[in-house]
Amino acid sequence: MKILKLDTQIEVYSDVQELPEADQILLKAAKASLLNAYAPYSKFKVGAALRLSNDKVIIGSNQENAAFPLTLCAERVAIFAAASQFPDTPIQSIAITAKSGSQVLHQPVTPCGSCRQVIHESEFRFEQPIRVILHGETGEVYVLHSIKDILPLTFDANFL
Ligand code: THU
Repeated sequence: MKILKLDTQIEVYSDVQELPEADQILLKAAKASLLNAYAPYSKFKVGAALRLSNDKVIIGSNQENAAFPLTLCAERVAIFAAASQFPDTPIQSIAITAKSGSQVLHQPVTPCGSCRQVIHESEFRFEQPIRVILHGETGEVYVLHSIKDILPLTFDANFL
């Protein structure tokens, strides 16, 4: 038996102003996007904005349904919209943020497991890592150089 140790690297910025300008702009788009969330059930509004390699910015917000499992997360709304409109264009970066109905989010919001898997599919499809920018409402910003940093031992088409 041996132990397999996994290495995760996350850049931690003390606040939004410390980020490179392109990341600040994308995060701003994500924050504007969460205003379009339809979240009457959870009151948890999520905004995602992604920059494509053609420099276009595509936004998404969570869209809930009274039949709860039909809800779609902000990240997947944005990624699928981008893939539908620009099927041959890789995603360069994605910014994700949220606003809770019950607390102020002082820590970065991290994507759910399903969205991590969908972000990974896009990295795999275009053979290109995606920069992931995570923020709550205040405080630190996390930047990942690939979703693999928070989705180790990924499942992808190599197994099929
Ligand atoms: N949600 C997202 O939009 N993205 C995530 O990565 C996690 C969760 C949404 C789904 C639901 O509308 C609400 O947040 C509460 O789970």
